[in-house]
Amino acid sequence: MPLVSMRQLLDEAAKGGYGVGAFNVNDMEQIQAIMGAAKETNSPVIIQASRGARQFAQDKYLFHLILAAAELNPEIPIAMHQDHGNSFETCKSAIELGYTSVMMDGSLKEDGKTPASFDENVAVTKKVVDFAHPRGVTVEGEIGVLGGVEDGHGAGGSGLEHITDPDQAVEFAERTGVDALAIAIGTSHGAYKFTKKPDGSVLKMDVLIKIHQRLPNTHLVMHGSSSVPKDLQDIVNEYGGKLKETWGVPVEEIQLGIRNGVRKINVDTDNRLAMTGAIRKVLWTQPEKFDPRDYMKPAREAMQKVVATRMTQFGQAGHAGDYKPVTIAEIAKGYADGSLTTKPLVAAR
Ligand code: G3H
Ligand code: 13P
Ligand code: ZN
Repeated sequence: MPLVSMRQLLDEAAKGGYGVGAFNVNDMEQIQAIMGAAKETNSPVIIQASRGARQFAQDKYLFHLILAAAELNPEIPIAMHQDHGNSFETCKSAIELGYTSVMMDGSLKEDGKTPASFDENVAVTKKVVDFAHPRGVTVEGEIGVLGGVEDGHGAGGSGLEHITDPDQAVEFAERTGVDALAIAIGTSHGAYKFTKKPDGSVLKMDVLIKIHQRLPNTHLVMHGSSSVPKDLQDIVNEYGGKLKETWGVPVEEIQLGIRNGVRKINVDTDNRLAMTGAIRKVLWTQPEKFDPRDYMKPAREAMQKVVATRMTQFGQAGHAGDYKPVTIAEIAKGYADGSLTTKPLVAAR
C-alpha cells in the first residue's frame, strides 16, 4: 500500500471513535518495532520524524526505510509525518521528500525555543497549509506551548505556562484551515512531566473538552503523551540508569481525550525508555556481549510490546482493513473542490 494521507487516517478514526498513536522514529529498528506492532494488532499507523531524527538518520535513509515498511506491509495504512516542523522550509522539504503529513509548530519561533505571537503562528501555519493542501498533504498546527525541552526543542518550563485558550483555538483553526490541531493542556515532552500522578490541577482535560465542544470537526492532537510507566523506569534504573521519580500521562486520561475529539496521540519517550532498558539489561548482565544484534533485538522487541499495548489502548487495533486508501492526488482534489472541508464547523461561540 502506498503511504496514506494522515487526514484520511484521522477522518476514519473519528468515524470509528478511536485514536491513532503517532510514534517517533530515528532508525530501522524503531520502524520495524512499529510495523511489528501494527501487524500484530492489525492497526493503521502514523510514523513521525522530528527534525533531529531527519538529521540523525539522513532524510533519504529514513524515507526509504518507511517505503520498505509500506512495501512489506501492504495491508497496513501508513501515514508519514513531519513532527514539530519549525519553519515553512522544514515542512516544504518534508513534502518534497514524500511525507504525507506535516506539523507546522508555529507556537514557537523558528529557533524552536521562543514562544511566537498568535499572528506569527497563524501566518506561518497558513503558508504551510497553502503549500501542502494542493499537494494532498495533511497539516497539523499547534496553539499554546508544551512544557519541557527535547533535543533543544521546546520553551522549557512547566506545561502550565502556556495552556491553550479555547477562543484562540477556534480563531486559529478558522484562519489557518489546519486538518489537526495540537493543544497545550499541561503536558511536557520527555520523561519529566509531573511530580506525582496528575490531577485536574496540572492536566487540563477540562480545557481539551471545551475546545472539542467548540471545534467538533477538528482532529485534536495530544503531544507529550507518554505514560512513563514505572516498570519501564525501574528496568532502566535496575541496570545502572539514573532516572528520577516521575509521572507521565495516565492512559485513562488519554482515553478520556479520545472520547472528546483526540485522534492523534504522540508517543516517543515510552519507546525510548523501553529500548534503553532492554539494552542496559543486556550490557549489564552479559558484559561479554558486543554484537549489536544481541542488544538491538531485545530493544526492538521491548519497543514493539509498548507500541502494541498503546495501539490496543488507543482503540486503533483491528482497524487497518476498514478502508481503502485514497490517493494523495484525490485528496488534493478534495481540498480544491471543498469536499474535504478544512474550515471547521464552529459550534457555540
Ligand atoms: O517532540 C519530541 C519528540 O520526542 C522528538 O524528539 O526532537 O529529540 O527527536 P527529538
Ligand atoms: P513524549 O515525550 O511524551 O513521548 O511526547 C512525544 C511527542 O509529543 C512528540 O511530538
Ligand atoms: Zn510533540
